Amino acid sequence: MLIIAHRGASKLAPENTLAAIEQAVRLGVDAIEVDVHHSEHELVVIHDRWLHRTTNGQGRIQDHSFVKLRELDAGSGERIPTLWEVMTAIHGRCDLNIELKGIQDVIPVLTLVDKAVAELDFRPEQFLLSAFNHHLLFETKRIRPEMQVGALTASCPLDYANFGSVLGAYSVHICMDAVTQPFVEDAHSRGLAVYVYTVDEPEDMHILIDWGVDGIFTNRPDTAMNVVAKH
Ligand code: G3P
Ligand code: CA
Repeated sequence: MLIIAHRGASKLAPENTLAAIEQAVRLGVDAIEVDVHHSEHELVVIHDRWLHRTTNGQGRIQDHSFVKLRELDAGSGERIPTLWEVMTAIHGRCDLNIELKGIQDVIPVLTLVDKAVAELDFRPEQFLLSAFNHHLLFETKRIRPEMQVGALTASCPLDYANFGSVLGAYSVHICMDAVTQPFVEDAHSRGLAVYVYTVDEPEDMHILIDWGVDGIFTNRPDTAMNVVAKH
């Protein structure tokens, strides 16, 4: 079962910051998940559209220039990183799941992925693009059929079989509250890998290992690595 550091090692350092990324890499996680928004012509790594929960700023991302966003404190003196800074920090040392949050156009993301493969020791298969907005994933596959995409879902929708057959998704990313063992088995029979979010309790981790889940998103990758090692 892959351990994916959710927003970096976000129990150990402020979420979606370079500090959280570095902690996760040093722990030896399989992958890191980050949330990405557009800010003017840049891609920034932050979860919410609104700034007040994770920074000392107010209002929405779109209310600020990129320069002003970069002046904010994203926790413990960390700045809101750009996606390129995150890629540079990881430098191919683990996989990267880019969740398309405040994104309308996938081309700038694909351009940065190409640049990371060319300049930062990443292999193309180390990238996984995911989104709750499956239209973005459909567009990604149209432009770049070989790109791995993961379909996010907060529930267990009736039509999830389409994630593989219509969308061409590599994986389904399902909420811990919705996942069941039959779902995992059925998704596998359809060729979909199953990743579950957000799993911080060791008891849940043990259950998901038994169900044959392929990966978990966790704020506690250190705990998850212990669980996997001892299971
Ligand atoms: O990608 C898994 C998970 O991060 C999706 O939910 O709200 O944490 O971005 P959220
Ligand atoms: Ca996310």
